[in-house]
Amino acid sequence: MPQQVIFTNAVATTLAAELDRLQPNRVFVLTDENTVGCVWPELAGQLPQATVITIPAGDDNKNLATLSRVWQSLQDNGATRKSVLVNLGGGMVTDLGGFAAATFKRGMRFINVPTSLLGAVDAAVGGKTGINFNDLKNEIGTFKEAETVIISTRFFSTLPESELKSGFAEMLKHGLLDSKDAYRHLLASDFQTADAEQQLTLLEQSVNVKRRIVELDPCEKGLRRALNLGHTVGHAFESLALHRNRPIAHGYAVAWGLVAETVLSHIEMQFPSTLLYELAATVYRIYGAFPITCDDYPALLRYMRHDKKSEHGEYNFSLLRDIGDVVTGHACDEETVKTALDIYRDLMHI
Ligand SMILES: NC(=O)c1ccc[n+]([C@@H]2O[C@H](COP(=O)([O-])OP(=O)(O)OC[C@H]3O[C@@H](n4cnc5c(N)ncnc54)[C@H](O)[C@@H]3O)[C@@H](O)[C@H]2O)c1
Ligand SMILES: [Zn+2]
Repeated sequence: MPQQVIFTNAVATTLAAELDRLQPNRVFVLTDENTVGCVWPELAGQLPQATVITIPAGDDNKNLATLSRVWQSLQDNGATRKSVLVNLGGGMVTDLGGFAAATFKRGMRFINVPTSLLGAVDAAVGGKTGINFNDLKNEIGTFKEAETVIISTRFFSTLPESELKSGFAEMLKHGLLDSKDAYRHLLASDFQTADAEQQLTLLEQSVNVKRRIVELDPCEKGLRRALNLGHTVGHAFESLALHRNRPIAHGYAVAWGLVAETVLSHIEMQFPSTLLYELAATVYRIYGAFPITCDDYPALLRYMRHDKKSEHGEYNFSLLRDIGDVVTGHACDEETVKTALDIYRDLMHI
């Protein structure tokens, strides 16, 4: 059965109704040190019996030590397979909480209530759960879908602007994978200043792109790789930034990666140049540019080769023939990737 996703800004009553439907013997709520203060108070009144577990915020804490603390709290407070864990936070909380629930007593049910834009548009939906391990992102995990995902925009007002922009990059990606009409609508609306209802409509459109793809390929055997659009170059930018000791947010890296991979799409698949220029201008306006020179190419190429999507040491990409027309697992040679990086620099005024 496809995962149930509810789009609503009436979160407290919807969550209470879902818990009523699931009839758990105990309810646990996982928050991080930010969401416990800015989100949980809005819902606490509807869940008087819940046990709240709070973990430190940030991806550095998406690790075994934090996971172990969550398992410990579940055990100390009598969680069973009939209990429900509500993950209330960004992607870090839904990833770690989903994994904690998937593994505790061989699996208890969980509900995701994403509170960041990246969490809502990407992490909370699709069944990937997990933690980082030995400096490798998402190294340990499982595919396990939440019982329900409740998606709203009502918690975004306390989200730092950079987090909103970071999540918006995944919406751009979904728009490119969707249809010309949906993409036009997304570019024409200013997500940051849109009202809550408009934001929710845009979010629903965007999340449904991921849902459609995940439904066809839940365990990432093929088509789901379409969702890696922008991520092969994006991950390389992220790694380079980390190596420079100036880390960048994932979404920013994806936005710049989308430009570079749309250039590749133009070279390899005749993706229309007008759309490429428009995307580059949009990304530059929102995110500025990630600065690279040709001296960075060897490192970037190395990172791209090591990306888990690259097979047989080739450079593998999900590319677009046009908006909504994706080709996965397309191999490119090194010279073409370098040319794309040259054109990325031109488009980004570097
Ligand atoms: N499972 C998947 O398919 C998938 C997909 C994409 C990303 N991810 C994972 O998601 C994580 C990134 O997601 P993220 O950016 O949401 O990370 P995050 O959960 O670390 O949240 C980012 C920051 O925003 C804070 N925050 C969250 N909601 C807030 C709110 N309403 N008000 C104020 N502050 C708030 C958090 O405390 C944190 O400091 C990564 O761990 C990534 O690996 C998973
Ligand atoms: Zn991403």
